[in-house]
This record gives sequence, structure tokens and C-alpha cells, in this order.
Amino acid sequence: MYWEKLSHDEIANQIDNALGENISYKTKNILGVPGSYLDEEQFYDDAPFIEDSPFLKTLVANPNHIGCHTLTESAEPFFKGTQKIEKDLIKLCAEEILGGKKNAQDGYVASGGTEANIQAIWIYRNYYMKEYGAASKEIAVVYSEDSHYSMPKGANLLNISSIILSVDNSTRMIIQEDLEQKITTAKNKGIKYFIVIMNMSTTMFGSVDDIDRITSYFNKNNLQHKIHVDGAFGGFIYPFTNENSLYSFKNNNINSFTLDGHKMLQSPYGTGIFIIRKGYMQYALTEEANYVQGKDYTICGSRSGANAISVWMILKAHGSDGLKVKMKSLADKTKSLGKKLEKLGVEFYHNPFINILTIKGKYISPQLAKKYFLVPDSHEENPSWYKIVVMSHVKQGVLDSFIIDLKSAI
Ligand SMILES: Cc1ncc(COP(=O)(O)O)c(C=O)c1O
Repeated sequence: MYWEKLSHDEIANQIDNALGENISYKTKNILGVPGSYLDEEQFYDDAPFIEDSPFLKTLVANPNHIGCHTLTESAEPFFKGTQKIEKDLIKLCAEEILGGKKNAQDGYVASGGTEANIQAIWIYRNYYMKEYGAASKEIAVVYSEDSHYSMPKGANLLNISSIILSVDNSTRMIIQEDLEQKITTAKNKGIKYFIVIMNMSTTMFGSVDDIDRITSYFNKNNLQHKIHVDGAFGGFIYPFTNENSLYSFKNNNINSFTLDGHKMLQSPYGTGIFIIRKGYMQYALTEEANYVQGKDYTICGSRSGANAISVWMILKAHGSDGLKVKMKSLADKTKSLGKKLEKLGVEFYHNPFINILTIKGKYISPQLAKKYFLVPDSHEENPSWYKIVVMSHVKQGVLDSFIIDLKSAI
């Protein structure tokens, strides 16, 4: 993994050039588009700070990134300059962060992790229907009980069933016997096609599924399956902290990924990223998108080009080395919190490559949870677990105060 760090001026220049390649609502006679720059009363573009902010400049110019730009030359040719930046962003994520081959992946900037996960499920459902004549009732999404709720949401929207796998209470790993038994039962009920979700970190625990064990079960049993990785939380930390990660396009079992800029990269909301091996995006083609020049392959339709710009800018401003340092230090801070908890005899779950640490509920009083905004696994009485997410704003002093308070409470 390597890409260069760019200076603020270099970044600003590249964005200016991209905006220059777009057709401006300001200077061209654009008559046929139901869009414009942002409202001039509220978002006047002569505010002095806008000139220095490539992101705000793009936001005000309001380019539409509808469609999938890695697939078709330009879905909406008016904005081809900033769409090229999005293409560059997908390439960087797919090839540098996720180890994909050159120009072998498609993708787009989605509204968030939820949309990117549902996009994957949608594509594979359509793939099974088109290529194998599968009926909805023969297709199921398979995921662990710790998976994000976008999986049941997607299965519900797409009218396919869910197979939810139990995990071990302390390791949070999928229980092999449960997997085997539930898949056998599903096969007996007529399920033939599986969409398997592997977590490159779950929301509550930061646990990373044992992908080799799960994929070898599906491969050995000759089950029709496609593997999507939900890296909405871990996608911008795990590949930087774990050099031996099995979660990359070098792993032939994996077909697609969700990443989320608006978690670990601190980009604005609206920066989910969906990436898939070439040859699959087509299964999400909406033929009827006739007014869009390059057609549409995404769930969301119109979306702001400023979102793609923001993620691209963050990645370029840090460079791969800068992000490695940043993500490793968050993981290290989490590890040292774990060491202090161990000394106190407090039970917790922590994957060493991830910045989430989840403490057993019995050690945390409601007052302590309230004081530090700890998030429970359930908002009913007596949660089993509370999590701490060591994000950039989490300072060592606050972690130290938490440990002091916890020590006096137990
Ligand atoms: C593992 C995981 N997947 C998906 C999502 C959904 O992301 P979003 O809220 O961006 O739709 C989240 C959000 O917390 C997550 O942690």
C-alpha cells in the first residue's frame, strides 16, 4: 500500500482543475438540467474563506455524481472533472487499500455503509436471478448476529431471507456447528444461493470474522455463494493496522467491499464507498434511466460530488504513511486501555487491530455509562455490553479519568 501525501496547495490545484473541467452553472448556458449551484442567498460564493476551501467550493458549485463513473465514461458529462476525482478515489481504495489488480474494480461513493451493503445484496440477488433463474425464495443473506442491521434491512427490501449465525459470547466468532446446522436446514428448505457477509469489524465489538474458516466451509460444500465484506467501520483502519490482513481483493473468495469515509476517515456524512470486482455492477443496471447519459447502476441516484472530493482530499492530505501512523496510534491507545482494564480484572472484548473496546455490562454502572456516553448493546435494562470507540477526539486524559472512575466504582 502506498500513495503520496500532497500539500494543501497541490490538493487545491487539482480540485480547481477538476472544477474547471466541469460545466459551470455560472458561466455556461445550461438549460436542460434540473439542478443549479447552491442558493446564492445562503451560500454566496464570494465569501473569502471559500476560495481557500476546495471542499466548500465544490459544495457550492454543486456537481451531480449520479451513476457509476468507473463503469461508464461519464454518466452526466457536465461534471466530468470532479467525476474523474471520484474514479481516482475508487481506484485508490480498491488498489492501494484493498490490494486489487489495476483497473479490475468498479465502485461509487454511496450515502453510507447501509446503502453500500444493500447495493451488494441487490447485485448478488439480481446475479442469481439472471444467471441461474433463481427465485427470491431460493436466495438468502448469511451473516453473524453481530452484523449491522443493514443486512436484515436489505433482505427485507429485496424480499429474500436471512440466515443469522450465532457467535461465541467471549470470542465473538461465528460458531462452526451453528453455521453447518443452519445452512443444512436452509438447503433442506430449498435455499440454493447464498450471499455471505463477512465483517471487517462489527459495529459493537470491532470483531473481524474468521473469513478463511467460513469461506472454506462454503467452498468445500460446493455451495453457490458470493462474499461481501462489510468494512463500514473497519475498512479505513484494519488494512492500515494489520499487514497480514486476509481482507483484500488478493483473497479470491471476496467479491466486494463496503467502506465508510464518515467513520474512521472523519469525512462528512454521505461518504459510504462501495467497491466490487468488475463484471458485477451491471447487475444493478436500471435500463429505464434514460435521461442519464451513462444510465444508473446505484441505489441512490443524484448525489453530491463534494462528498467524493472530501474523501479524496483526506486520503491525499495524509498519504498512506500518515494514515498508517494515525490508525496504528488509535489501535495502540485502545490496547493500552485494555491493559489497564486487565489490571482491574474487568472483562472486555478487543481486537488488537481495531479501536473499539467492549466491556461486559456488569462492570459499568448507569452513572458511569451516562458520564462517558458509553453505548450499550441494547437500550433495554441491564445491557450485556458497553462499547468505547477510541476515535480521534478521544484524548488520553479522558480515558485516564474513566479508568479512575471505574476503579472507584468496582
Ligand atoms: C459495521 C457497520 N456496517 C454498516 C454500518 C452502516 O453505516 P451507515 O450508518 O453509514 O449507513 C455501520 C454503522 O455504524 C457499521 O458499523
